[in-house]
Amino acid sequence: MSRNLGRNVFGHAEDAGKVMTLEEGMQLLKQWVENPRLQLHMRQVAHLMKCWAAERLQLNEQDQHRWYMAGLLHDADWEKWPDEHCGRIVEELEKRHQDPEIIHAIASHGPRHFGVMPVTQMDKMLYVFDELSGLIHAYSLMRPEGYAGMEVKGVMKRFREKKFAANVSREEIMEACGMANLSLEDVIAFIIPRQAQVA
Ligand SMILES: [Fe+2]
Ligand SMILES: [Fe+2]
Repeated sequence: MSRNLGRNVFGHAEDAGKVMTLEEGMQLLKQWVENPRLQLHMRQVAHLMKCWAAERLQLNEQDQHRWYMAGLLHDADWEKWPDEHCGRIVEELEKRHQDPEIIHAIASHGPRHFGVMPVTQMDKMLYVFDELSGLIHAYSLMRPEGYAGMEVKGVMKRFREKKFAANVSREEIMEACGMANLSLEDVIAFIIPRQAQVA
């Protein structure tokens, strides 16, 4: 349930640095996504992206916002047009003259589905966080204490349990970590306390 985008260039070079405001992004999200769980998923991934940009890459606030928006909008077309995911949101952002790096990151968040390889750090981290964020959130829902006291080794145990969150592709997560040159444990340790802030 996705579309092979069949191209590798997205957006327009002259739109570099142009990004909608948070309010505009939330408005688009509300128009396109009704499912609160999907909205939450996108806000969680957005927050992780922003935290990574700020804490690991020391990027400035404008760049942190660009990273946030890539996360916030990456699945915006999933609910209404699952068979065309993520072509619709890519085209919408091109029409709105959004930063090409953001559009490329969204276009490459599932290389096996969309046929676009992650290239930049933004691309790679969106791929790293996407599915793993979902698995960790699913784990929080089955723990009576939610995120409180959650440990990396607990997540690793669920990761190895194929039946747990069976739709989450472990292979893709490992591929993403390999591309970003990060260990799975490192990324999980980064996600737990930060994702806990977005409920
Ligand atoms: Fe997606
Ligand atoms: Fe996603």
